[in-house]
Amino acid sequence: MKPKEIKILELNAGKFIRGKVEEILKTVGSNSAITALSGGVDSVTVALLGYKALGKRLKVVFIDNGLMRENEPQEVASMFEELEIPIEIIDAKKQFFNALEGVTNPEQKREVVTQTFYKKVFTKLIRESGAKCLLQGTILTDIEETIAGIKRQHNVFKQLGIDPEKAFGYKIIEPLRQLRKDGVRKIAKALGLPKSIYKRMPFPGPALSARIIGEVTPERIKIIRKTTAIVEEELKESGAFQYLAILHHDRVTGIRDRKRDFGLQIEIRCWESVDARTAVPTRLPYDILETLAKRITNEVPGVTSVTYNITSKPPSTMEAI
Ligand code: XMP
Repeated sequence: MKPKEIKILELNAGKFIRGKVEEILKTVGSNSAITALSGGVDSVTVALLGYKALGKRLKVVFIDNGLMRENEPQEVASMFEELEIPIEIIDAKKQFFNALEGVTNPEQKREVVTQTFYKKVFTKLIRESGAKCLLQGTILTDIEETIAGIKRQHNVFKQLGIDPEKAFGYKIIEPLRQLRKDGVRKIAKALGLPKSIYKRMPFPGPALSARIIGEVTPERIKIIRKTTAIVEEELKESGAFQYLAILHHDRVTGIRDRKRDFGLQIEIRCWESVDARTAVPTRLPYDILETLAKRITNEVPGVTSVTYNITSKPPSTMEAI
């Protein structure tokens, strides 16, 4: 069942925070809980709410799945150092790459990332830590898109008829399930988080694996990671809701050193949106697009084609898988 939405205009941040702290305390009882950070505003907000409720009874982990952006684990670690909340970084790269080997179907890819995260990595962590609950940053849009059969969001279970307690052996608490992204940003701001966090661009749970069409390998992640860094650097002043790069499966003929180069194709997407339910492409100035094409073809080995998506959501979605 879909949770009841709390619209941004009805959202009283102070009341919401007090209510959620109480709800977390009540559900966790005298036990302990665990939460995993992705570095995005949803997971950081949930970690803060959890820490407010439970203090040191909340274990905060960052699972390095090998699918993150450049320097992301280090940046998340220093963000939490500043907040004076201890975190643990778990190296799970091998597990994720092994599980993703040979997987090309988009939904199967999402499923593999989910299963690896929850069944292989998290269940072990939870067992070791003795925690009985997992706090996670599922938001209403994730639930809606899963129910509607658009995308199986990485972190949605109940609505798919999966009881996490039976499937994984722990309870899942979702304090943000009634909010959309704009609501989460309001709560993050009210919690005293810096603008760099509450305004942080959304990033999907399956991370860079959602930006690769076809097989996800360490080599292909390296390509999309480098490209993503360029795109994020060049578009950071664009004011757009979200911008990203996609590595395509097909190759195209290009020319390099006056010879045929059957190279890689990159697609750039840049979105104007309020809540990610609908979106339109940003009308980026042509010189920015040109700079992107030049930098990507010069700096990312093997790329011979860079395109810009001009399709709105719907019928497009924001991510490629
Ligand atoms: P789509 O591609 O569905 O994306 O139009 C809408 C918004 O959701 C983000 N997104 C995700 N976020 N887990 C998340 O936490 C996911 O599995 C996931 N997939 C997409 C996407 O980046 C965009 O902001």
